[in-house]
Amino acid sequence: MNRKTSLLLSSFTFLLVFSAFSQDAEVEEREYPNREDNAKCFVCHGQQSFYETSQESGETIIRNMYPCLIIDSVKFYEANHWSFGCLDCHSFDYTDYPHLRESKFEYIPTCLDCHEGDEAVAQYNFERIAEEYEKSHHTQLTDTKYSCWSCHDPHGFRMEVRNEEVISHVVATDNAMCLKCHSGTTATDLLLGTGLEPLVATHEWLPETVNHFRHVRCLECHADLVDDVLVAHDILPADQAVNTCAECHSSDSRLLHSLYKYQIQEGRIKKGVLGSMITSDIYVIGANRNIFLNWISALIFGLVTLVIIAHALIRIIKK
Ligand code: HEC
Ligand code: HEC
Ligand code: HEC
Ligand code: HEC
Ligand code: HEC
Ligand code: HEC
Ligand code: HEC
Repeated sequence: MNRKTSLLLSSFTFLLVFSAFSQDAEVEEREYPNREDNAKCFVCHGQQSFYETSQESGETIIRNMYPCLIIDSVKFYEANHWSFGCLDCHSFDYTDYPHLRESKFEYIPTCLDCHEGDEAVAQYNFERIAEEYEKSHHTQLTDTKYSCWSCHDPHGFRMEVRNEEVISHVVATDNAMCLKCHSGTTATDLLLGTGLEPLVATHEWLPETVNHFRHVRCLECHADLVDDVLVAHDILPADQAVNTCAECHSSDSRLLHSLYKYQIQEGRIKKGVLGSMITSDIYVIGANRNIFLNWISALIFGLVTLVIIAHALIRIIKK
């Protein structure tokens, strides 16, 4: 392992540990009203294997849980819906095992069933998001299974933009939602740049493709931006996607109206002011032009020239 990779790895580990600690602090104060009840489901759905007892002979065997039915309990309790019980969304019939066949046809509520006109989450503007979603390319597909839950994992979604300060983490989580279907890769693959070959091939016009995928969301190029929602939900057909560099690499970068919008609203980043340069996480060539810095660099350049001239003069005199 060379020095650069080990440095990268150790800083990554540090970040992981650090974020685990900071989350612990926040999570500790919570009381989980449904933890006990949920444990009755997690005993099977929380791990790779479970015990099944024959109702006839009383014999107990160990069985493997289908991988797609395993739910990460840690993620579940860190999600926006951390206080939920499984039965808030699923039929009460699931408390029996073997599960009734009929329960597979249960109706699972959608976001709007609970959040339409919900004052507590008014700032998200669910109604507008739903309108945008209705227009999106995906919704026009004939596959009726497509819903809000297709991207928002019911057992673990957490809104990142509003909760996470490190932009690259927001990008990784949000892109993983798309990559789940568009290349079968996870957030870890994205970090390591593996498994992305097919997508990189269709995006070969974009130099440093994987690097771009780490710094911008798919949404930045593929969704139609609107002012009244923070995260655009109208995914356009591919032929309408952003394909010019200047959309982002310019002083009125598209990113100021999408990826960085929340941080700008919160005053964490000031548009075009020195502050934006300090957050190295969001430095984009061309977008961060700043007159003050231009003057500083001119000054530094002037000073360096002076030093060189002085140095040359001294050498000539000393000869
Ligand atoms: C004894 C182990 C066990 C327990 C306890 C258990 N499940 Fe299951 N569950 C399974 C197995 C095995 C399957 C897959 C076979 C099937 O669908 O019956 C399954 C399937 C499911 C499915 C359907 C997946 C699909 O799309 O077909 C849901 C939803 C579900 N369980 C929810 C629950 C909930 C909620 C609880 C707690 C109230 C729970 N389960 C408790 C073992 C269990
Ligand atoms: C906020 C609502 C919600 C809660 C809470 C919830 N589920 Fe689900 N669950 C869903 C939805 C929606 C689906 C269908 C996902 C899809 O179609 O992609 C689902 C699907 C499943 C499946 C099938 C596998 C899958 O992921 O598609 C299982 C198993 C399951 N849930 C178990 C549980 C258990 C166990 C709990 C409690 C720890 C739980 N659910 C809590 C909404 C919920
Ligand atoms: C079964 C009803 C129900 C469904 C379905 C549902 N929610 Fe919620 N949601 C709630 C409740 C209740 C809360 C309040 C959180 C609590 O009690 O901890 C909440 C909280 C949230 C929060 C956190 C708000 C905050 O500021 O802390 C977000 C974000 C959210 N939901 C988004 C969604 C999205 C997106 C969907 C669909 C993908 C969805 N919800 C589906 C009932 C629901
Ligand atoms: C194509 C994938 C996709 C679908 C489908 C989708 N969303 Fe989202 N949604 C996202 C992404 C990505 C984010 C950004 C999450 C973050 O980083 O905070 C998001 C964020 C949100 C937010 C938070 C916005 C904010 O202001 O912080 C809400 C609310 C939301 N979605 C609701 C919905 C509802 C309601 C539906 C269905 C009508 C839906 N979403 C369908 C991908 C999707
Ligand atoms: C549940 C699976 C699923 C998720 C999640 C998903 N997509 Fe898709 N997407 C599809 C399917 C299926 C198609 C249709 C494939 C086709 O038309 O070739 C599609 C089509 C598209 C297209 C149009 C392709 C074209 O040829 O015009 C774009 C662009 C796109 N998705 C972007 C995204 C983005 C960005 C996200 C994340 C915010 C996302 N998708 C999340 C399944 C998904
Ligand atoms: C910098 C802008 C940009 C970014 C970032 C971007 N795309 Fe694209 N994408 C495009 C453009 C432009 C096209 C159309 C290319 C063409 O038609 O030659 C495209 C094509 C596509 C297509 C249709 C072609 C295919 O591969 O089937 C899909 C699906 C897609 N992108 C998904 C994604 C996903 C998922 C991400 C995030 C990992 C993403 N894109 C990130 C600009 C972008
Ligand atoms: C959706 C916005 C967006 C578009 C469109 C876009 N870029 Fe970028 N680009 C970024 C961001 C964000 C970075 C990351 C800057 C960093 O390294 O921190 C970046 C980084 C780069 C880098 C690497 C700089 C480095 O230090 O590694 C190059 C080169 C680049 N872009 C060139 C291009 C070219 C050429 C195009 C057009 C074909 C383009 N970009 C289109 C947003 C974009």
